[in-house]
Amino acid sequence: MRQLRALEPDFWRAPSAHNTQPWTLTYGDGQAAVGWDPARALPISDPTGRDLRLSLGAFIECCLIVCADAGLPVAYRPDPGPLRVGFLYGAERPYQTPFTTADVRARGANRGEYHAGRLPDDVAGALEGTRRLPCRDLADLLHAADLHQFGDGEVTRELRAWLRLTRRHRRYFLDGLSDRALALTRLEALGLRASLALYPALRRLGLPRALAGASRGLLDYDGDVLVLVGPVEEEVEMGRLLMRHWLTLSNLGYTTHPLSQIIDCPATRQELARRLGVADPRTLLHVARVGRPRAPATPSARLTDHETPARS
Ligand SMILES: Cc1cc2nc3c(=O)[nH]c(=O)nc-3n(C[C@H](O)[C@H](O)[C@H](O)COP(=O)(O)O)c2cc1C
Repeated sequence: MRQLRALEPDFWRAPSAHNTQPWTLTYGDGQAAVGWDPARALPISDPTGRDLRLSLGAFIECCLIVCADAGLPVAYRPDPGPLRVGFLYGAERPYQTPFTTADVRARGANRGEYHAGRLPDDVAGALEGTRRLPCRDLADLLHAADLHQFGDGEVTRELRAWLRLTRRHRRYFLDGLSDRALALTRLEALGLRASLALYPALRRLGLPRALAGASRGLLDYDGDVLVLVGPVEEEVEMGRLLMRHWLTLSNLGYTTHPLSQIIDCPATRQELARRLGVADPRTLLHVARVGRPRAPATPSARLTDHETPARS
């Protein structure tokens, strides 16, 4: 378990919604409980805990990969309990995975521009549990979902709490979404900060429309959107699968830009399910555009890079 602790900065490279890094590791006798910190959940924008469980799954997969690369025989067993999803424990042999710690370090979301071009069929076809659509087919749903998101004062307030739009923010290098990770210019970051600060006053004057308008052309190119479809009761396992998909894509030079708002908004989620011919809209677990980025993204911050995360 001491060896496990030393690897935490690489475990923490896992992705999480709003970069809240909600996971906790509580070390015990020969095992470590994987749980979450409720202060790092997103009760307003993620009321069902879907993104929380996907993020915990991604974290577990990262832990297993990093341990395997270090030669540590560690396995995971689900065992849900209060604020807990399961345990990492000492196993007979290391986790079998094609991925390495270097892969975990190299992966990152990229919200900038992508080159035109679809994923090759063999690459897309190998991503189990995913469905793919041309970007342009989802442009209308993205706009409707953005309007829904920014029209909701509570959701916008929760998002704002995780935005780090100036380097002067005291948590800029720890967690949340920085201006650079969001691929915003200084001016754009300043504009977003100012408009969100004035949100209550500007809401009726059309601020939600202006904010939603910012992503208007995002899907207006020849690219792909991937939708992860799977059982709702297996969201943690699906988070592990999502992590493997992102690493597969990253190793091939592709990056992803999640667009969860499309499945956070009930109307667009339902419409997406209809377009995909999926009977239960709840089984749409994740949506992201994917492609070859025009420029590398700035890596996002992690708690472990600068402070010891809370743990017992
Ligand atoms: C379940 C899940 C949902 C996410 N949803 C969004 C999203 O809707 N929009 C977005 O820009 N990023 C989204 N992300 C990406 C995270 O913001 C990102 O993983 C986090 O900021 C850490 O950055 P990194 O992936 O570059 O390491 C999501 C990530 C996860 C795991």
